[in-house]
Formats: sequence, C-alpha cells, structure tokens
Amino acid sequence: MNSKITNQLKEKYEAIDQDVEVHLEGLLHSKPINYWDYIQTDVLLNLQKPRTDFPDEMVFIMYHQISELLFKMILTELEQVAENDFIVAEFTEKVMRVSRYFDVLTSSFSIMKDGMNIDQYNQFRTTLTPASGFQSAQYRMVEFASTDLINLIDKRFRDKADKNICCNSAFEQLYWQAAGKDYKTGKKTYTLSAFEERYKEEFIKFSKAYEGRNLWSKYKALPKKDRENKALIKAMRHYDYTVNVKWVMAHYNTANHYLNIGGETAEATGGSEWVKYMHPKYQKRIFFPDLWTKKEIETWGTGI
Ligand code: HEM
Repeated sequence: MNSKITNQLKEKYEAIDQDVEVHLEGLLHSKPINYWDYIQTDVLLNLQKPRTDFPDEMVFIMYHQISELLFKMILTELEQVAENDFIVAEFTEKVMRVSRYFDVLTSSFSIMKDGMNIDQYNQFRTTLTPASGFQSAQYRMVEFASTDLINLIDKRFRDKADKNICCNSAFEQLYWQAAGKDYKTGKKTYTLSAFEERYKEEFIKFSKAYEGRNLWSKYKALPKKDRENKALIKAMRHYDYTVNVKWVMAHYNTANHYLNIGGETAEATGGSEWVKYMHPKYQKRIFFPDLWTKKEIETWGTGI
C-alpha cells in the first residue's frame, strides 16, 4: 500500500486516540457501498403517502417534494454565502447557482399547472384542508436568507416600519400574515396559527442568524467596485425576478387554472383571499430593492 496514505491514516487516527489497525480491519469487513444505499432510494420512494385513490394526487405530492429538495439546495448555497467572505467571482457563481435552482422551479411549474386532472385535483384537495403550501417552512427560510426583514414586511406597513425591525414585531407584520390574519380583529386562521406554533421560534432564530449575513446584506458589504460588477448585478436581479415575479406568477396561474372554475373562484385549502394575495403586483416583494429603478418597482409584476 502507498506509504504516504498509510502514514496519513495513522496520523488521522492517532490524533483521536484510535488504533489505525482496528479501523483497517473494519474496512476489511465492511460491505461496499451501492447506489441505492448512498442515495437512500428506498427511503425516498416511500415518502409518498396519498390520502385518496386519485392517481394524480401522486403528481401533487411528488412535485411538492421536488420543490422542497430544491429549496434545500438553495438554502445550502445561501448558508455558504453567509459563512464566507467570497470574492466577487465566487459570490456571482453562488448567486447563479441559486438562480438556476429557482429557474428549474419556475420552468417545471407546468408539471403542476398542466400535469393534473382538474376534477381529480378538486376532489382530492378536499382531504388536504387546512394544509397549504403556505406552510412550507423552507420557502420562508429562503426569504429570510435572501434579504433583510424590512423587505419582507407587508407593503402596507413597509414604508413606516423601522428599517432594522426584527423578531416578534417584524414577525407579526410579515407580508404572509395577510394570507391568514384578519387585521381588524387580529384573529388568525388555523393554517397560520398551526404554522406559527410549529415554526415561529425557529423562524425568529433563523432570521436573527441571517441578520447582516443574508444575501442582500452580504452584497451590500462588498467593496463599491464589486457591488458595481455587471455580472453580479445581473445575477442578483435575475434571482430576485425569478423568485418574486416568475415563480410567483407560475404559482398564481396554477391556482387560477385549478381554482377558478367557470369564472367562480373556489376557496383555497389555506383559506386565503388568494386572488389578491398571490399576485406580485400587490405584494411587491423585492429582495434587492436598490438594484431596481423606481419605474421597475412601480410596475413590479405587471409585465408578465
Ligand atoms: C395545484 C397546485 C397548487 C395550487 C392550486 C396552489 C395554491 C395556493 C394558494 C391558493 C395559496 C395561498 C394560501 C392558501 O390559501 O392556501 C398557496 C400558497 C403557497 N403555495 Fe401553493 N399551490 C399549488 C402548488 C404549490 C407548489 C407545487 C408549491 C411548492 C412548494 C407551493 C408552495 C406554496 C407556497 C410557498 C405558498 C405561500 C406563498 C406566499 O405566501 O406568497 N404551492 N398555494
């Protein structure tokens, strides 16, 4: 055996007070790895548990699972941006990676829009109430990891809110509260309160951890020359537009396709006033507001 490797192995195990001979013997007995062990295909392919016998429910479940996996890939990249001080080329490359994941999410949304029978969907979805994609925690984490909390505050309160708003007061004014809260009475839907009970603490911790380290903050901390780098600006704008206009519109068009039947809009499983809530032109969610012109912000979500 190559003595360099033998020595490195010895050093590695000695450093943790382990006998390298025992580990080498273990290697002798251990089974070689297979694709199915490594990718965990048996586990993965057993994670689909439909609640009805409608075959298209499988499309619905699996596409949501694919989306969640891509959200995880995005979060993995955003975490690396938060933890490192990348030079501009590396920073751009990371933004391009998250952009590409969201490009996939956007272009593949037709699997949802055109890939399920409308009648089947409208029957199996009754068994899903009050669950909703609204309760996707990773989607919210992608937002927290992408921008400052002020940019996620409901448009109606954003201009008056403290730019450094955080924690509980920020939480109650996040744009998505509008999907589950009666602002006059303060009463929350079950969909929202169950979501908060499960994740609120985690969200506050997560958003605090990304304060000053989210993608937008990291960009703002770059030297002026880098902030003006054309490729980086292009990548940042591409990501912002893909998440907050293209994906949102693909999602909105899907909801219209399945829930607007003969001009009548059906109530969604999460119970929001979705026709207004979901359109980007009302919410004007923008991760990187300084990278857009006044006109682009005014017309956000209208040209698609
Ligand atoms: C037939 C397919 C779909 C329909 C009809 C649909 C419909 C809706 C509606 C109406 C809402 C608003 C909340 C509510 O009242 O329930 C919503 C929220 C949401 N859905 Fe979907 N959805 C679909 C597929 C998906 C997929 C594949 C994902 C991927 C994870 C997803 C993720 C989300 C997210 C993240 C929200 C919250 C968005 C926000 O707060 O702006 N949805 N969906």
